[in-house]
Amino acid sequence: MKNLDQQIIELKKQFIDALARVTTKDQLETVRLSFLSRNGTIAQVMETLKTLSLEEKKVFGPQLNTLKSEAQALFSAKQEELQASENAGKVLQQQYFDVTADKPGQLKGSLHPYTHVIEKIEDVFITMGFEIADGPEVETDYYNFKALNIPDDHPARDMHDTFWLDVPGLLMRTHTSPVQIHAMEHAKPPIAILAPGRCYRHEATDASHDFMFMQTEGMVIDKNISMAHLLATAQTVLRAIFDKSDLKLRVRPGYFPFVEPGVELDISCPFCKGGCSVCKKTGWIETAGAGLIHPNVLRMSGIDPTIYSGFAFGFGLTRLAMLTYGINDIRLLHSGKLEFLTQF
Ligand code: FA5
Repeated sequence: MKNLDQQIIELKKQFIDALARVTTKDQLETVRLSFLSRNGTIAQVMETLKTLSLEEKKVFGPQLNTLKSEAQALFSAKQEELQASENAGKVLQQQYFDVTADKPGQLKGSLHPYTHVIEKIEDVFITMGFEIADGPEVETDYYNFKALNIPDDHPARDMHDTFWLDVPGLLMRTHTSPVQIHAMEHAKPPIAILAPGRCYRHEATDASHDFMFMQTEGMVIDKNISMAHLLATAQTVLRAIFDKSDLKLRVRPGYFPFVEPGVELDISCPFCKGGCSVCKKTGWIETAGAGLIHPNVLRMSGIDPTIYSGFAFGFGLTRLAMLTYGINDIRLLHSGKLEFLTQF
């Protein structure tokens, strides 16, 4: 009898110790199987009751029942405790969701080459005090042409093969220069803006021309702005974009009705010394049209050309992206092909 007495105390202690070590649901199940299941140790000890006398049964029967119900209660409490901490873990996980977590084998997004080039150019201009400006891609004839000194019958309209919309007077902008006009209408000088964006021309496509492409317009208006400011700005920016401090600028006369004088800006080829396929063996690459803003343009937008002057430029951003990344066909940039886009 004494022996069973001792056994019950021992079993209770073992059960409590085993439960105290449990930290997972799997471990809890192991404890249940070894102590509380049909073949568990508590059931085995209860089995021995059958072999005892009536007297002994009266003593040990209640003791064993108490052991069983206490063990069951302790087990249920542990089960609830584990469930509660699992729920708390889930809540914590939801509260602190790691958006940067990387799951191997997942398709990763990447920035479009245009985005890389635009961010780089914007950074350079912002450090020089320029503001980033925006304008609509659907424009009126006034902003795209007339306000830029290109009246209805001007031959320069032929240089811009235009997508006219069904609504009379509306078109897809052919260049980013209309943003100059919006900026002049909304701010008083001094003004310094950079306006990257899409442009559209009704042209046949080839490796270097598409019907949609990117330009960035830049404009500065203040008192006494001269060609020297334009050239210094262009040189500084182009050197920063191509990361070449000895990059040279070449200025050629160019005609754009909204600037006078107008120039074409070329840079010494950043990829070679004596001529390569990118510069077509000339050592120079065309990068932008530019000039001093025509007095007619300033006047039409309410700025007095006798007090203020300004410069403007228009970089072919598509060209810059192609040069920067060695892309040989403009159509790849607009294709949406993942094999191409995931390289950047
Ligand atoms: C202009 O569009 C003028 N607005 C630029 C300017 C701004 C001059 C301010 C003076 C002052 P142009 O038509 O040359 O200029 O176009 C500028 C650049 O846009 C070109 O050098 C070229 O890089 C790019 N471009 C023009 N048409 C296309 C096209 N179909 N596909 C890709 N790029 C093009």
